[in-house]
Amino acid sequence: MNDYLSQNKAAWEEAFDRRINSFGEDHAMRLQTERQPFLAPEVWDALSPLPLQGAHIAQFCCNNGRELMSLVRHTGARAGVGFDLAGNILAQARRIAGETGIPCTFVEGDVCQAPDSYHGQFDLILITIGALCWMKDLAPFFAKVYACLKPGGRMLLHDAHPVTAMFAVPQEEAFDPENPARLVYDYFRSDPFVDTYGMVYLAGQAYDSKPFTSFSHTLGSVVTHAVQNGLTIERLTEFSKDISDDTAVLDGLGIPLSYLLLARRPRT
Ligand SMILES: C[S@@+](CC[C@H](N)C(=O)[O-])C[C@H]1O[C@@H](n2cnc3c(N)ncnc32)[C@H](O)[C@@H]1O
Repeated sequence: MNDYLSQNKAAWEEAFDRRINSFGEDHAMRLQTERQPFLAPEVWDALSPLPLQGAHIAQFCCNNGRELMSLVRHTGARAGVGFDLAGNILAQARRIAGETGIPCTFVEGDVCQAPDSYHGQFDLILITIGALCWMKDLAPFFAKVYACLKPGGRMLLHDAHPVTAMFAVPQEEAFDPENPARLVYDYFRSDPFVDTYGMVYLAGQAYDSKPFTSFSHTLGSVVTHAVQNGLTIERLTEFSKDISDDTAVLDGLGIPLSYLLLARRPRT
């Protein structure tokens, strides 16, 4: 595994070990009782019309699998497979699957190196916020998406808009609370971000963390890599809706803050 991947794995596992409010502890109960899926409304709006009953669904960078398990439960899909780097997070995912009986399994490792045995297996691959930013190079990522889809299968990607990588986040010195929309970073930045302030959404606060290395990818690069790796774009919708918390103060101001890309592996 590349150095930055091993470091990211260690940083994610550290973040999960520091989680507060027992992150995930109520997910088995919520997955069984809540009527609303554990998904952003725009994701469910895009997926609910698709014929997913009996389908095989994957999630790349699935974290503790709550979204995948919810999707499998709400669609009547036959099975789900989640892929993630962090072993301790997947241990929780497996426990939740066991407690709920939702037919999902989980695979640990760099998703770009997911075993060939998963090739051609999925009707849908779900990718939600905070997945692409961990990829240095999008080509192997979308090549793996294409390879793992059945012919005719779809990828749904819902993520923070790349424009949001131009703003500093509240944990950074460059963040200006008087002007949170100040453009700090180059949209076309190719240098990685190396952050050591932790994963605040899990730990509840910033902390001195192992380094997280992430990358920004322009929207053009995302679309181009998807197409160059064989996917056909069905829909690309941008929203002025914050889905990351880092840009919550910019919600609804007309700045693109999130997007949804639906693409398909051609049938032949
Ligand atoms: C912010 S979470 C996003 C997942 C999903 N949106 C959620 O909230 O559950 C990002 C996940 O990506 C995983 N990850 C990072 N790099 C990865 C890689 N190369 N292969 C697979 N998983 C990776 C991390 O372990 C983490 O669980």
